[in-house]
Amino acid sequence: MARVRLVNVVKRYGRVVAVDHVSLDIRDGEFFALLGPSGCGKTTTLRIIAGLETPDEGEVYIDDRLVNDVHPKDRDVAMVFQNYALYPHMTVFDNIAFPLRARKKSMGLTEEDIKRIVVSVADLLGIREHLDKYPSQLSGGQQQRVALARALVRKPKVWLLDEPLSNLDAKLRVTMRTELKKIQMKLGITTIYVTHDQVEAMSMADRIAVMNAGRVLQVGSPSDLYNKPADTFVATFIGSPPMNLLPCTLAETSLVEYDVPEEISGGLMGSGRVKTTFQLSCPGFTLPLDPELGSKIARSGVSEVYAGIRPEHLLVSGKKVREVGVVEATIEVIENLGSEVIATARLGDELVKARILGEAGFKPGDKAYLVLDPRRILVFDKKTGRLII
Ligand SMILES: Nc1ncnc2c1ncn2[C@@H]1O[C@H](COP(=O)(O)OP(=O)(O)OP(=O)(O)O)[C@@H](O)[C@H]1O
Ligand SMILES: [Mg+2]
Repeated sequence: MARVRLVNVVKRYGRVVAVDHVSLDIRDGEFFALLGPSGCGKTTTLRIIAGLETPDEGEVYIDDRLVNDVHPKDRDVAMVFQNYALYPHMTVFDNIAFPLRARKKSMGLTEEDIKRIVVSVADLLGIREHLDKYPSQLSGGQQQRVALARALVRKPKVWLLDEPLSNLDAKLRVTMRTELKKIQMKLGITTIYVTHDQVEAMSMADRIAVMNAGRVLQVGSPSDLYNKPADTFVATFIGSPPMNLLPCTLAETSLVEYDVPEEISGGLMGSGRVKTTFQLSCPGFTLPLDPELGSKIARSGVSEVYAGIRPEHLLVSGKKVREVGVVEATIEVIENLGSEVIATARLGDELVKARILGEAGFKPGDKAYLVLDPRRILVFDKKTGRLII
């Protein structure tokens, strides 16, 4: 097991900055995911850790050892590639044994030792009965297990997995997700898992680094990223359907409060206390804002914002259940996903996604009320995209 640390790592390919000042601190035994869209630099970052690419700037540490100049085979890491390649002319057994045989002398292993290790890893991955077959005789999922077994057989300090489930069909991917997580927990091996699939990262990782355009935007636990996304990119990348972002303006209302009601005093009470409340003025509706957050936004001078509302915090109702935090909308699309129903509703100029609980009694064209919980609204600076907290 090992800790992996990247300090200000930069990798350029000509004018493309594939990895842009990335710093990460991956804990011993942690399941850490690098998550981001295609081309954001995930594979390059992983290859730098493996030693297959040399960074232009910055340092890579495994435990407390600087490994920038250490050869890949001496880093004690094992990588499973996006397109894992098994040797087609070798049996499953020989494929898994390959890394051990390559180091047989230096590791002081006998053929008996190799057999014992290969069988135990094959057991762990549930492929023991396939050891005598050739890769072409296996399904995609079984081949993937062989590739994972081959990477584990040397008991590396760090397991580097680059989209290892991307070649599998949706159902098998879900099964393998659970199995991989179980194996990782059982072995307690530090694992860095690259994926562009947010559900995969959210369901398996202890912590996730969200990347875009070579940069790390946020590192956190799945719930940190979900509940407190650092910016609008993370907010919309995590969660499905994605968070609604509505352009709004901060509005401030000041009222003078008197100890004695004005109708009794006849307006002769002199000065009272000024009470300021904050609202978000959004397309088609106004939302009350938490006073502390409102005054913070006002103090920072930001007035143009995005109100971020997750679909599950926007409920569709046929009745106007209360006055505050309820807005009228028109249903445009109803998607029944089985476990939940998602409505696309028009709110002024904007389309929003909302979750319908229970049976959907709505059809396109229906008027409906969207019920918002003002406490669940996140506010982002429209110019920078950063979360205001
Ligand atoms: N060997 C290379 N030569 C030139 N450019 C490269 C090379 N490897 C990667 N790049 C570029 O660096 C950027 C990051 O690539 P990388 O493969 O790390 O992305 P990724 O996040 O793994 O994407 P994907 O999800 O599609 O696998 C891309 O713009 C890519 O085109
Ligand atoms: Mg990649």
